[in-house]
Amino acid sequence: MDRRDFLLSTGIILVSASAYSFGNSIKPLIEGKSEKIALVYGTRYGATEDTAKWIAKGIGSNVDVLNIETIDLDETIHKYDKFIIGSGIWIDGAHKRLMELLSTYKEQIQPKIIASFIVCGTTGEDDAGKVRIEGYFERFHKPLDVKPSLKRHFGGRMIIEKLSDKDRKLLDNFYRNVLKKEFASWDRTKPEDAEKFGIELFASTKALSS
Ligand SMILES: Cc1cc2nc3c(=O)[nH]c(=O)nc-3n(C[C@H](O)[C@H](O)[C@H](O)COP(=O)(O)O)c2cc1C
Repeated sequence: MDRRDFLLSTGIILVSASAYSFGNSIKPLIEGKSEKIALVYGTRYGATEDTAKWIAKGIGSNVDVLNIETIDLDETIHKYDKFIIGSGIWIDGAHKRLMELLSTYKEQIQPKIIASFIVCGTTGEDDAGKVRIEGYFERFHKPLDVKPSLKRHFGGRMIIEKLSDKDRKLLDNFYRNVLKKEFASWDRTKPEDAEKFGIELFASTKALSS
């Protein structure tokens, strides 16, 4: 009887095999190899960054909050298993570099996107607002063939003293001549709404991985 037959006859290989498979099943837990989520956001004045952090708080652990302006796109796309993308909306749409990420890396990122969000001034309280917000999402998702199944819009903020000269002049003109409203600062951010979205996302990623 050689060593293998001996081990088989004593059942040791069987025990080792089940220990091996148990080892494999707990490996991701030990090595922390559970799926890595990146929440990539584009901001100009900070409301989208705050919103991204509140969403991440709702998700809990295992999510890296990344500013699109400071990351290496190629490295990021390969490093993460799932993506949440979010952008502020300015007159010319979502953040340019985020749009570049979606178009340049479409094939790689599309299957990994689990949700998207926008932060804007439009409230969605009336039909015209809802249509406008849908339009922002359409433009944001334009590079993608498969649209993210979960999306949400959040209120942003506009603080006149913080605007660049160019943006202040542009908005001043827009408020006066188009909206015919007083040009005044506003803040419609709601941390609790963003955190709630994060909790929903956490539940949906659990459902996806179980
Ligand atoms: C120059 C400028 C243009 C904007 N244009 C729009 C717009 O077209 N539609 C809208 O709903 N909100 C608009 N907003 C409001 C922004 O979406 C809001 O300020 C948001 O908080 C921006 O995100 P950020 O704070 O992360 O930069 C605009 C704001 C600025 C400063």
